[in-house]
Amino acid sequence: MRLGYRDIYERYRHNILSGLLRPGDKVPSVRVLADELEVARKTVETAYAILVGEGYLVSQGAKGTRVNPDLLLPKKAECPVQAWTADTQLRSMVDVRDREGYFRLGIPALDAFPYKKWLLLSGKAVRAMSAKEMTNPPLMGYPPLREAIARYLSVSRGLTCTAEHIYITGGYRNNLTLILDALATRGDKVVIENPGYIFGQQLLRKKVENLHYAPVDKQGLNVDYLLKYHSDARFVCITPSHHSPLAVTLSLPRKRQLLEWANANNAWIIEDDYDGEFHYTRKVLPALKSIDNEDRVIYMGTFSKTVMPALRISYLVMPRTTLNAFHEAGEITESAQPVLTQKIVANFLAEGHFFRHLKKMRTLYQQRRQMALDALSLVFPDLFDVEVNDGGMHIIAFLRHGTEDVHLAKIWQNAQLKVSPLSEWYNSPEKRYGLIMGYTNIHSSEEAVALLQRVAKETREWFKA
Ligand SMILES: Cc1ncc(COP(=O)(O)O)c(C=O)c1O
Repeated sequence: MRLGYRDIYERYRHNILSGLLRPGDKVPSVRVLADELEVARKTVETAYAILVGEGYLVSQGAKGTRVNPDLLLPKKAECPVQAWTADTQLRSMVDVRDREGYFRLGIPALDAFPYKKWLLLSGKAVRAMSAKEMTNPPLMGYPPLREAIARYLSVSRGLTCTAEHIYITGGYRNNLTLILDALATRGDKVVIENPGYIFGQQLLRKKVENLHYAPVDKQGLNVDYLLKYHSDARFVCITPSHHSPLAVTLSLPRKRQLLEWANANNAWIIEDDYDGEFHYTRKVLPALKSIDNEDRVIYMGTFSKTVMPALRISYLVMPRTTLNAFHEAGEITESAQPVLTQKIVANFLAEGHFFRHLKKMRTLYQQRRQMALDALSLVFPDLFDVEVNDGGMHIIAFLRHGTEDVHLAKIWQNAQLKVSPLSEWYNSPEKRYGLIMGYTNIHSSEEAVALLQRVAKETREWFKA
């Protein structure tokens, strides 16, 4: 049915009163709107004339027609916010991740990012977009970025892979779902670490029927336990370079033991190397994948910690025998990543900025970690223990006594200190208790001390109670 002038009038009036169009916003010319709605120009002219007559629109001659800038609109009723009723583990983690505050987890140093360089590269990438690149993006990623990542991984993480093994993805969850889509069959047993990355646990609980947990101690995943109880697992998801959240490194004997088992049982090890770039006290630790002679490890990397989380660019290294399976799954479920963003990242790597930035961040994070450690022992000399591990972007202040880290974390969070309670990362009654603190955005020792002093009194009283 054709629209009449009344319909057009009503639509505009509704959009203005509901705030979809705001005072000063431009509306389309009579000709453009008439063409768009396939009505006669006269119909639009009549609708606009009434809207102008009633003061909703003003006509500004050659400058076009706008919503009356002086229009006084009745205050809009607030739309009631729907309470999100997800389970507390997930909600608590989302709160810590998304709310502004100090000690946030996994956010790279925002004051040390080479923004100018990034903007230059972004401008260059926009100008260099060819018509061909504006068609559908390549499924497995922009070829120069795949090449740059393969080069980086072989130099820095000890991997022997080429561009054709790299699949560019949109983040951790994309990686895991893609792996399961490509390689898992219904009923396959999947094992993850306990404690383990909360978003990983949540995703796997949703996707996998046969999900199990294996404990982590000071040498990383307890591989004896895995072999004793879950030797029939098809997938094991681990963070070997720097466990999330305990920050320990999987020992070399355990790495070997795990690889041998995977090889003998045709199992897949999913290595999440989310912040393996940040090791401070020795040379960069090679990835588990670097000693995977039988190609049983699916490696996942991300630019979220080394560049920025908002980028949403991560990658997989696909074992040789799985290229077809990934290709086929991807063709069905994936939309590929934006070429423009990939171009910027490719140049960031190819021109050497990435390496320079990493080097700078290693030094900076080491200093900032020391600031956090010093501040903790100054403000709370007798309440927490900290095990200093080799690297990462967070520390854990373990409670010397008590088990109520959830409650203590709430007290800190209310003072804008966005720490996460360690016990929530466990999936067993046996837990350790502490506060997980990101230190990458601490600017000075004084700031670290001042932040902790915000909660010093309440924390001491809480421990006494
Ligand atoms: C354990 C772990 N794995 C992976 C990631 C990276 O996730 P993404 O690439 O989606 O940002 C993070 C980020 O916080 C993480 O903590």
